Amino acid sequence: MNILFAASEAYPFIKTGGLGDVIHSLPVALNKLGDNVRLVLPAYRHVLASVDSLRDLGTIDVPGAGNRHKVRIIQAHEDTLGDYLYLVDVPDLFDRPGNPYVHSDGFAWPDNAERYTVFSRAVTLLARWVPGSNWRPDVVHCHDWQTGLVPAFLSMVHNSPATVFTIHNLAYDGHFSQDDFNNLNLPPAWWSPEFVEFFGGFSMLKAGMIFSDHVTTVSPTYAKEICTPEFGNRFEGVLRSLGGKLTGILNGIDLDIWNPETDRHIAQNYTFDDSFTQAKAENKKHLLQVAGLPESDAPLLGFVGRLVEQKGIDLITDMLPPLFEHTNANMVILGSGHMAYETDLMNLATRYPRRLHVHIGYSEELAHQIEAGADMFIMPSRFEPCGLNQMYSLRYGTPPVVNNTGGLADTVVDVSLKTLKDRTATGFVFKRADSESLYSMICSALDLVMNTKLWHQVCITAMQQELGWEASAKQYQELYRAEAEKKHE
Ligand code: ADP
Ligand code: GLC
Repeated sequence: MNILFAASEAYPFIKTGGLGDVIHSLPVALNKLGDNVRLVLPAYRHVLASVDSLRDLGTIDVPGAGNRHKVRIIQAHEDTLGDYLYLVDVPDLFDRPGNPYVHSDGFAWPDNAERYTVFSRAVTLLARWVPGSNWRPDVVHCHDWQTGLVPAFLSMVHNSPATVFTIHNLAYDGHFSQDDFNNLNLPPAWWSPEFVEFFGGFSMLKAGMIFSDHVTTVSPTYAKEICTPEFGNRFEGVLRSLGGKLTGILNGIDLDIWNPETDRHIAQNYTFDDSFTQAKAENKKHLLQVAGLPESDAPLLGFVGRLVEQKGIDLITDMLPPLFEHTNANMVILGSGHMAYETDLMNLATRYPRRLHVHIGYSEELAHQIEAGADMFIMPSRFEPCGLNQMYSLRYGTPPVVNNTGGLADTVVDVSLKTLKDRTATGFVFKRADSESLYSMICSALDLVMNTKLWHQVCITAMQQELGWEASAKQYQELYRAEAEKKHE
């Protein structure tokens, strides 16, 4: 099958979170299973600078916000996708440095509605015709609000490919004003609660839900959670009305990039053989050095992620003082995001310079070193559509301590007498998203660390989990086939 992926970020060119990882690793998995996936991304400055063999496929004229844009379609080369990467080049909209969605001051680009509407219009054209090629997608697979208008535009096209829309995170809903709606020259009939109108504005995420042939999200538990007011972010009614059109398919991870046996970022490679304990100790020693913390055998906790409310950062900052007071555990934190969280964490690092290292910023290398060098990985997310970091930590034999939500609930098996006995335990799952529950779960994990044999068993079970894409990629394949067939009926 021919599948066109449309997304706003993809590893290794531009990545702000797990979406970038998935847009890289799922196409690789689908291609391995025999499909032909091509990917289209906006030509951000950083992307243009990091790809080679650019080929100009032509220029199209696309309406923006009360104006028109010359849009150059570029074909680029990428090692895993070959020549199957397309870039939508509109310098006025995408030739900007840094994060794709926000200005360096942390505020969203004021023209985001226009940027991603123009991108979506260009994708719609590519879905029907790739200049200079007879390749035509059977399915267009769109990801998150930035591509939500693609299924909407395609719904107006005769004989269009089937559309699948994946929600990676309902908290980012692409909500814009009625003025934006009018300026963008969207069909007036769409301004209705039945279509894209949403609480006084309009939502591109909702457009994706309403107009696509099928909606998926990235774990079975999150698929259920988002149909409730607690997790639905006001979309619960829309999502419930989708019925069988909504499916949860668990993300996989890239087993080559996140592989402790071959990882070139870490001090010592390892697997779950006899060398495990010694290699973990070596990686911990190296991580402590990199972090500028004193050498120590004390348990080391790790965190990597965006510093936003979703990730439960305040739960971590609240529990660290008692943790440092009552236990000998240390912690290394890597992340960037909201200034208030960054400041709180830096203040704690100043208060506990020998116990806590905080690295504000983005570092692929340090992320790998934390997964390998920490004893346990802390992920107290309030909600988590899937979460990749807990899966990376499972693969690195670094049991995760997680809240019981979304993909965390679907991927981590809580330590209990039963799961230790039947050897299925892989981590620690607490039931309430508050700092007391996190603290007491970390204390339970610290108790188990003392029992070398059982701890080792949990680490090894974690490393043996099936975390790759194969099973989920097959689910996507079945879905693509079913939706493409329906189009031909
Ligand atoms: P989300 O997509 O909500 O941010 P995930 O757990 O799905 O959460 O994916 C996060 C991805 O981003 C992981 O690959 C993680 O290693 C990476 N990441 C997040 N913050 C950083 C950072 N500061 N430095 C390096 N990698 C990071
Ligand atoms: C989102 C979610 C995260 C998920 C990722 C990839 O950013 O927050 O839970 O793993 O997308 O699907």
